Amino acid sequence: MALKALRKLRPTGLTGTTGTPTGPAAPAATPPRAADGDVLLETVGLTKSYAGADGELPVLAGIDLKVRAGEIVALLGKSGSGKSTLLRCLAGLIPTSSGTVSYRGEPLTGANPGTAMVFQTFALLPWLTVQQNVELGLEARGVPAEERARAAVQAIDLIGLDGFESAYPKELSGGMRQRVGFARALVVEPDVLMMDEPFSALDVLTAENLRGELMELWESGQFPTRAVVLVTHNIEEAVLMADRIVVLGSRPYGTIRETVEVDLDRPRDRDAPAFQDLIDRVYRIMTGRQKEARLSGRTEPADQDKRTVAGTPLPAATVDGLSGLAEMVAHRGGRCDLADLADELGLDVDDMLPQVDALDLLGFARVSGDDLVLTEAGSAFAGADVQTSKPLFARAATEVPLVKLITNSLRQRPDAAVRAGFFRDLLAHHFTSEQVERQLETATDWGRYAELYTYDADRQEYRLDEGASAKI
Ligand SMILES: Nc1ncnc2c1ncn2[C@@H]1O[C@H](COP(=O)(O)OP(=O)(O)OP(=O)(O)O)[C@@H](O)[C@H]1O
Ligand SMILES: [Mg+2]
Repeated sequence: MALKALRKLRPTGLTGTTGTPTGPAAPAATPPRAADGDVLLETVGLTKSYAGADGELPVLAGIDLKVRAGEIVALLGKSGSGKSTLLRCLAGLIPTSSGTVSYRGEPLTGANPGTAMVFQTFALLPWLTVQQNVELGLEARGVPAEERARAAVQAIDLIGLDGFESAYPKELSGGMRQRVGFARALVVEPDVLMMDEPFSALDVLTAENLRGELMELWESGQFPTRAVVLVTHNIEEAVLMADRIVVLGSRPYGTIRETVEVDLDRPRDRDAPAFQDLIDRVYRIMTGRQKEARLSGRTEPADQDKRTVAGTPLPAATVDGLSGLAEMVAHRGGRCDLADLADELGLDVDDMLPQVDALDLLGFARVSGDDLVLTEAGSAFAGADVQTSKPLFARAATEVPLVKLITNSLRQRPDAAVRAGFFRDLLAHHFTSEQVERQLETATDWGRYAELYTYDADRQEYRLDEGASAKI
């Protein structure tokens, strides 16, 4: 795998920075140690709901969490499980609906003075230079100009940005921009660094490099922060970086499904069996809901009847993608270990989550332990040729709430056409605009393939496919 080779090439220090007493050659301070530190952040019985058109939308419930000095805590969950919401509550950027968030034992009443945030989208001010962007955090805290400049230079050095002080964000690559994001957060030396998917807008290699450098800084004791809370949907990233992984479940709303201690030595070796075992375990926890559903004795048709658009977000999986996975599983006898399959394909196991979710949603497969198992319908779909697979897919897709909503809405219109904005508005009650767009893309792809409806991108309009009623 190309990535593995590149990992070996990654320099072991910061990217060639010199002139800082905290450079790679400096004797390592005692690395921070997890779990025995002071409690920095604590939530007790935290719940959070957002006001929606149909009343309150519960997002988080019963969250009891402690973050101690010396540890990296990952908040891991699928899209919509409330990771960013929890992070914002911990940072005091939004209030909880009930329960408390405390910083060093004091309940928060506003922004948390002990935290600083790194965002996925960098959030830099384009008209300010790197140096000025980094100083921003200090300006807000009333630090005098001279001290600001000195601290910013230090943070810029630490994070491998020296030489770029006078550059503007648009002149920088994505990786360098995110370094500015890190420097801006670290310059205030927060007790807890908060990161919301900080690597997910970067290409794979840049993300890998930046992760490695941050971990080296953390391990060397040079990180000017005492704990880290990392939001991610990437299992491998969580196992690589965290001391503790808090897995959030999202049905019907975000609760802590399980907390997993990561007791592996650093730097961590992704190829070590213990690393892979942990990935399998976390993967099982994340995908375990099907098992729970079966154990609770609910039958499938009843389940399907109860599904709603709000509670059944469509994963970002194309028909090609989900068919590809179904065919590979069929080729292995209708059942296979997901982690093994990902490994064979050179993928991270969570790269396949959207396709796994899609197959589950369509009733084509179930997760059982570590394995993905095709259902009878899934086996028929995987074995069918293009023409016969379409009606099989159409039958399954019409049971998916958003596809059903679009199809039924179109049927009720004399002109059999509905503008996409109608569905966008309906979904906006329950999802962020990014999630809405992603789901509509999936619904469009599925509906087109199933020949249930078409989508005219110029007019932003769905239209009933002429043969739709014959297909179901
Ligand atoms: N400001 C808001 N108003 C209404 N609903 C919101 C708001 N912010 C988030 N939500 C909803 O709350 C739920 C949790 O959202 P959140 O962004 O916390 O999830 P997430 O786990 O961070 O997801 P992602 O991986 O997509 O970033 C989603 O259903 C989302 O649509
Ligand atoms: Mg988020």
